[in-house]
Amino acid sequence: MANEKTDPADRGLNMKKLLFVCLGNICRSPAAEGVMKTLVAKNNLSDKIYIDSCGTSSNHEGEQADPRMRTHATQRGYNLESIARGFREKDFEEFDYILTMDDSNYSNILALDKSKEYGEKVIPMTKFCKNINAKDVPDPYYGGTDGFEHVLDILEDACENFLTKVKGEL
Ligand code: 4NP
Repeated sequence: MANEKTDPADRGLNMKKLLFVCLGNICRSPAAEGVMKTLVAKNNLSDKIYIDSCGTSSNHEGEQADPRMRTHATQRGYNLESIARGFREKDFEEFDYILTMDDSNYSNILALDKSKEYGEKVIPMTKFCKNINAKDVPDPYYGGTDGFEHVLDILEDACENFLTKVKGEL
């Protein structure tokens, strides 16, 4: 079945592989993964686009997405299934796009690219926003419910436009 958590290197060679990255991999990047998987499924492209998420930190490794993030996502029809993991060096090679949520994620990932080969794959997610003027997808972890809604607003805008770009490359 498409988009199972198998090693992306084992998946079809012609699949586009997208990795969403935040700090803990329990709020923003699981939400990005869920929004994008839903959009991709609606476009009947689940067998052509592989989607995963991770954190720059491994502190929450093995955890489900934060219950607050899951609740807000469910209210919009997104089922967040991800289990947190940290970024792995091999992700640089295995994924075509590495989408970061904020400046800190962006610089932390670039700093891990010792060979300086993979910088072009690393892109701030908000670069794809058209309707919402946002520089970052702000960390909602220590805030209230509005923060989780704002994350989803930004991600829905960005994912739609990002999918248009990826579709053009299939
Ligand atoms: P995320 O949010 O990076 O969107 O998953 C956070 C999750 C956990 C923490 C910070 C941000 N934390 O400090 O534990």
